[in-house]
Amino acid sequence: MCGIVGYVGEKDCADILISALSKLEYRGYDSAGIAVFENGKIQVEKTKGRLKDLEEKLKAGHKPVGHCGIGHTRWATHGEPSDINSHPHGNKRVSVVHNGIIENYIKLKAFLIKKGYEFISETDTEIVAKLLDYYYKGNPVETIAHVISEVEGSYGLGIVFADFPDKVFAVRKDSPLIIGAGENENFIASDVPAILKYTRDYYLLEQNEIAVITKDNIEIFDIHGSTIEKELQHANWDEEAAEKGGYEHFMLKEIHEQPTALKTTITPRVMENMPFLEECGITSDMLNRFQKIYIVACGTAMHAGVVGKYVIEKLARIEVTVDIASEFRYREPVLTENDLVILISQSGETADTKAVLRLAKESHVTTLSIVNVKGSSIARESDFVIYTHAGPEISVASTKAYSVQLSIMYLFAFQLAYAKGEISKERCSELTKMLTNIPTLIEKTLEVEAQCQYVASKLVNADSLLYIGRGLDYALSMEGSLKLKEISYIHSEAYAAGELKHGTISLVTKTMNIIAVATQDKLFDKTISNVKEVKARGARVILVCKEGVEMTEDVADYMVHVPKVEDDILMPLITAVPLQLIAYYTSVLRGCDVDKPRNLAKSVTVE
Ligand code: F6R
Repeated sequence: MCGIVGYVGEKDCADILISALSKLEYRGYDSAGIAVFENGKIQVEKTKGRLKDLEEKLKAGHKPVGHCGIGHTRWATHGEPSDINSHPHGNKRVSVVHNGIIENYIKLKAFLIKKGYEFISETDTEIVAKLLDYYYKGNPVETIAHVISEVEGSYGLGIVFADFPDKVFAVRKDSPLIIGAGENENFIASDVPAILKYTRDYYLLEQNEIAVITKDNIEIFDIHGSTIEKELQHANWDEEAAEKGGYEHFMLKEIHEQPTALKTTITPRVMENMPFLEECGITSDMLNRFQKIYIVACGTAMHAGVVGKYVIEKLARIEVTVDIASEFRYREPVLTENDLVILISQSGETADTKAVLRLAKESHVTTLSIVNVKGSSIARESDFVIYTHAGPEISVASTKAYSVQLSIMYLFAFQLAYAKGEISKERCSELTKMLTNIPTLIEKTLEVEAQCQYVASKLVNADSLLYIGRGLDYALSMEGSLKLKEISYIHSEAYAAGELKHGTISLVTKTMNIIAVATQDKLFDKTISNVKEVKARGARVILVCKEGVEMTEDVADYMVHVPKVEDDILMPLITAVPLQLIAYYTSVLRGCDVDKPRNLAKSVTVE
């Protein structure tokens, strides 16, 4: 996720911007840049790569000397990481850094082209810069208010206007921004750690509030230009805690980031309520060619593939096989040129998944990767790539990356099913609309946190657990079980509920804990029959189900209710949240190292 900073004061602006940006490195980035007023003119320096690359560029070339400017670290969304796509964007009159996604950028770009503007980058940010330039008549606050009334999407913006060489402007919607209040210096930043070296006092900028900072003044306006009085905040955190945004662990922060991560991933892939994967090169003609799909990945990413299999087979009526990459690569799979191999990977560097990609390419099979890290090996080497926009995932246990992988599985399934004529345009549009509403429902789902903490307190001394479910609930149980065991070190297994009585039920006694997931109406009664079977053998049962479902104590000891989605097919996106939270709190209560569980690494680049 991009990082934004801005500075006005007496110190060397370029140095401060780079130092502040270095405190936002945890957000992940692929390029960096600054715009600093030097002798009254905006000087922009930017480069693909790390902050040290920017520093080297300044050392070798020109380092602008001044006391007012903006800076940025970019996590690519529109357009690959490159010098040109790096921020700031703009011209001699205005310069902009941006975090977020402009949803109506195609329409705005067409408008600006008609007005004679030319574009040099592939970014949506350049549209904002040019729009500011177009509407600017001498009053920056008025101009910003006008521009944000036309822009749809999410944005945190840092802006400088050449006519105001001692001012930095900022505005935000759905992307965080704070205004740091120092002595003879003021700041803007995406997050508190950026300013902690200089001040602990800051204001929180709310939706569509416009900030104007000078060396010794901070003013905040609403969209109509009226001044807003705000309460000064004081950060008590140390720098490490601040990077976690006040959460105790990155994992919890990342669980809470899921609504934003999903929105950022889904929004650019939906046009007029229909899936829109053409920008990744995926056309209906191409999709129609495939007769079989292999989804290959490891761990959590493979579990996203299992949900994908259920959804693709149900909607698009095409055979899908899900494989563990380390098995697939050695099992001499039968691959033909009408197959599609989908690789899913957060890091894009997992050795076994990469090996499968290479194997598929040697067999002349089309490859599509779903990857979170831009420019990673798997993304670069596959024929097609759909990036997920989860932002950096720091906790070893994957949470938000899983959700965004699921969202792409759904979009892909909808587009494929429609391309193959298996679902009507109306049905495709209806499902896509439901998917776009998921981030809001997840916000609501996060309200189950206290219940999950309570459930975790009941599991803290467990030796073993079974996660059971049927259909999509079983697919999701696999992920719930992995999450719990990897961070709490309690043995657990996911089992298809209907399979229990073929052996595993002999393990069930009164010391066994069972998490039963039952969110699929069609399979609900069947799963509940299985729940009754384990309950009759003394097991302690935690039932995760949709709101409105009630059960007596002889069926479930505890219940966790999640919001309903109109179509059960989308329930895994919602139900993942309580399973993640139960795993998280169990790990916390057992005193485990939540973010860095023993023996595990975030990116598994060896076999
Ligand atoms: C578990 C987890 C792992 C990864 C797996 C694949 O929480 O994170 O199971 O999913 O190592 O990693 P990527 O997605 O980077 O290929």
